[in-house]
Amino acid sequence: MQNHLVPKHHLGIESYKPGKPLEEIKREFGLSGFAKLASNENTLGPSPLAMQAMQQSLSETHWYPDPNSMKLKEALSEFHGLDKSCFHLGNGTEEILTHVARCFLQAKDEVVLSANSFPIYTILNQFQNAREVVIPLKDYRYDLAAIREAITEKTKLVWLCNPNNPTGTWFSAKELSEFFSKLNHQPMIVLDEAYYEYASDSDDFPNSQEYLNQYKNLIITRTFSKAYGLAGIRIGYSMQSPEITTHLNRIRLPFHINNVAQAAACAALSDKAFLKQVQATVRDGKNYLIPLLGSLGLKVHPSLANFLFVTGPYDFLAVYLELLKSGVAIRPIAIHKPGDSARITVGTATENTMLIKELKTVLKGLERFQDSGCADR
Ligand SMILES: Cc1ncc(COP(=O)(O)O)c(C=O)c1O
Repeated sequence: MQNHLVPKHHLGIESYKPGKPLEEIKREFGLSGFAKLASNENTLGPSPLAMQAMQQSLSETHWYPDPNSMKLKEALSEFHGLDKSCFHLGNGTEEILTHVARCFLQAKDEVVLSANSFPIYTILNQFQNAREVVIPLKDYRYDLAAIREAITEKTKLVWLCNPNNPTGTWFSAKELSEFFSKLNHQPMIVLDEAYYEYASDSDDFPNSQEYLNQYKNLIITRTFSKAYGLAGIRIGYSMQSPEITTHLNRIRLPFHINNVAQAAACAALSDKAFLKQVQATVRDGKNYLIPLLGSLGLKVHPSLANFLFVTGPYDFLAVYLELLKSGVAIRPIAIHKPGDSARITVGTATENTMLIKELKTVLKGLERFQDSGCADR
């Protein structure tokens, strides 16, 4: 009824569809045990040092938080060897991406992005009524050369995600170097590295920080939601030139990072033992899951993230619904059509074992379903 009061370009926005909350699924299916492998969270839990810091910070919650998050910026500055003025913070990376879109995009501006990537980019482009130039994936990977060729003097902003969500594939150090060296125009480039901590020990993964000096319009985003286990407290950061930080600062609200999140992030950054444990858990989990998923007839695509992307001769919407009943949540994905693939978060050893056990049963049931000639739904 209020449609006429809402900007027209908002009406076409399809809002982001998150995975179901754990409690809702448990209630719906009467489950006690559950493996939530649908949203790429860190199922080991939060960093213990962060938990301690959060507990301590609770007694300070009657004060407004530090609007400049100085302690956290100092910690990030030391961690990355960059000046404090190079950091911007957000209530999750999502908020930073929102700041970037609001800061740099106006109606009709041209934005280049890849198909089948993090859906928030498109939502933000639509918020700003920007025009999208969408480049298809090539073999489930970002086609960085085609993205570069699509950049013209009209391009205002480019969204890049490495490793890519939902496919887990990545572009290499060599590909990124070639991308920057052959760029003929200078749009804003956002490099979303939400899964960086899982990818960074791979030899061919780019050290993107190197490009901050060379390419002045680069914004690199990282998050505490994944490897640091702080998805629920909402904190992320970006690195960019001090000039870009100034632009981003102008459009943020003063107290957007609560004091519990500031304390948690500072402590998490220093929790090197926890990060190592997380990385090892995901590495071991992948070594366990990849051959077993393969033996169930699924194609597991190469991934440098904490999730695996699978394709295969199944309707993954049906697989998802059946798995939910047995207490395992994965995420069905639409690359060409809904449910033609799925994204599975790598969990703890117990969760991974549960996934394989339940998936085996579900796929067998679906095969029987296919055999009876009713598969084409
Ligand atoms: C590629 C990518 N970027 C950003 C985010 C958002 O992260 P945050 O929790 O920091 O908002 C996610 C979360 O799933 C993601 O996959």
